[in-house]
Amino acid sequence: MTSTRRTPDWWRDAVVYQVYPRSFADSDGDGMGDIPGLISRLDYLEDLGVDAIWISPYYTSPLHDGGYDVADYRSIDARLGTMDDVDRLIEQAHARGIGVIMDVVPNHTSSEHPWFVEALTTEPGSLQWDRYIVREGSGPDRETPPNNWRSVFHGSGWSHVRDAAGDPTGYWYLHLFDTTQPDLNWENPEVRAEFRDILRFWFDRGIDGFRIDVAHGLVKEEGLPDYAYPSDDDEPMQPEMFDFGDVAHAPFWDQDGVHDIYREWRAVADEYDPPRVFCGETWVPNPERLARYQRPDELHTSFNFAYLEAGWDAGRMRASIDDTIAQHAKVGAPPTWVLSNHDVIRHRTRMAPGFDNQHRLTCVVDEERGLRRARAATLFTMALPGSLYLYQGEELGLPEVRDLDAEVRQDPAWHRSGGTDGTRDGCRVPIPWSGQEPSYGFGPGAASWLPQPAAWADLSVEREQADPASTLAMYRAALRIRRAAAALGEGPLTWLDVDGDALAFQRAAADGSTVTCVLNLSESTLRLPTAWGSEVLLGSTDDVAVLATDDGAEELVLGSETALWITSAS
Ligand code: GLC
Repeated sequence: MTSTRRTPDWWRDAVVYQVYPRSFADSDGDGMGDIPGLISRLDYLEDLGVDAIWISPYYTSPLHDGGYDVADYRSIDARLGTMDDVDRLIEQAHARGIGVIMDVVPNHTSSEHPWFVEALTTEPGSLQWDRYIVREGSGPDRETPPNNWRSVFHGSGWSHVRDAAGDPTGYWYLHLFDTTQPDLNWENPEVRAEFRDILRFWFDRGIDGFRIDVAHGLVKEEGLPDYAYPSDDDEPMQPEMFDFGDVAHAPFWDQDGVHDIYREWRAVADEYDPPRVFCGETWVPNPERLARYQRPDELHTSFNFAYLEAGWDAGRMRASIDDTIAQHAKVGAPPTWVLSNHDVIRHRTRMAPGFDNQHRLTCVVDEERGLRRARAATLFTMALPGSLYLYQGEELGLPEVRDLDAEVRQDPAWHRSGGTDGTRDGCRVPIPWSGQEPSYGFGPGAASWLPQPAAWADLSVEREQADPASTLAMYRAALRIRRAAAALGEGPLTWLDVDGDALAFQRAAADGSTVTCVLNLSESTLRLPTAWGSEVLLGSTDDVAVLATDDGAEELVLGSETALWITSAS
């Protein structure tokens, strides 16, 4: 059941496309995307040129956190499809040479998971409660949470365990996310055995691997000590992870014990032929900590959020690239690169002049330059060595939708923060496929679980397929070249000296061919040295001129905020 392009090492330079299933394609018109909808769009993904898809969760779930609250890890939510649909998806993706990566959520279950439901019928101290993290409260009436840990989604990280009458018992359960996402106790061997079994259940059905949700969070420091938060405020989502600053190591993230779990998981993945693969969602403080997850007997890859955080800044981008490559080389793992996903502001908006994360919904941004920068940053990123993650809709140049009404917002952190944070719905608005009216071909009718902006008629797949200058056309061309050029994919990278606010590197293949990639971040044009050649493979805009120099050579002049790939034949 494996696909045609799968060699055991396929993941080392794979282009993986993230599908957020509720928002990708809706087959039945209920306004929510589903697996049959995804199957109907596999030709599009094949044409785009991706090697694999990673699909955010579609398990049975109350959808309090978009499916990252799993009630049953072995069944499919009826709103998203059936087990037969998943079997068809695997088969049809593989028939097109596309691998299938599912999402596993091991840090917490839904409060509707049978384990939690059962625990609620027992006393704390029971075997059932030992699957979760439950502690006695402090203070005279045990009315105060056991420690000061906060939820990533705001407020306390602890909620009362209540008795059948709804009264507090004096015990509390930990939830680093929503109250409906109780954290599992990974010290309990039953939890470990259950997840190894879940991995096998899906590997046996033929999937190629798993993305691991909150991979850095499973193990908590012994004794659950208080954390010295960088600020007393109930600050936006997990600043200690997003800033990568000089803050104390949190007792609930990136604990050494988590690596033992991934050694166990790697052994499971290696039982298969070809071996199954993992990609960790690891928000850690720096590339050195990140690379530890990629030691040879652990995860194959992990997301590199430091690069995503580097933004539109030559110095930070270069430092992050160098650090990432150096640290991954030490463990023999390929780096990965990502600019957008279902949790962050889409990079077209994030990189736009005027964007201010503190006022991310209200700041005035230059959308057109945001698109220009996003295309340039993407083309640059696509030439880096290693594997690449794309998020659905970025290939259309979709912006973040920032003006969603509070009533339609579903991000639990929006509600827990009183509307000051939890803005993740804006990157989850359903994809425009075709036509002039909502849902723009997302489903058969007008329904979509989040409203789509009117301007998205111009950003539909149908429109962009017909336009050779579209963002979609650039992505397709870039992925085609990336697959064909021997110098792209894994391998060395050499920085080239370049003047001004710009970055340039060269990739060389064993056959002597090279690809030079230049990113001009400035607002002025950039003249490239004649020695770099003049054979343009692809530009992020058509703002590239070939000029004859006085001595008869050809010189390339690159427009502002533009990236370029240049080749020299072998
Ligand atoms: C991860 C997911 C995010 C989810 C959280 C809790 O960060 O990407 O969407 O809300 O975990 O499961």
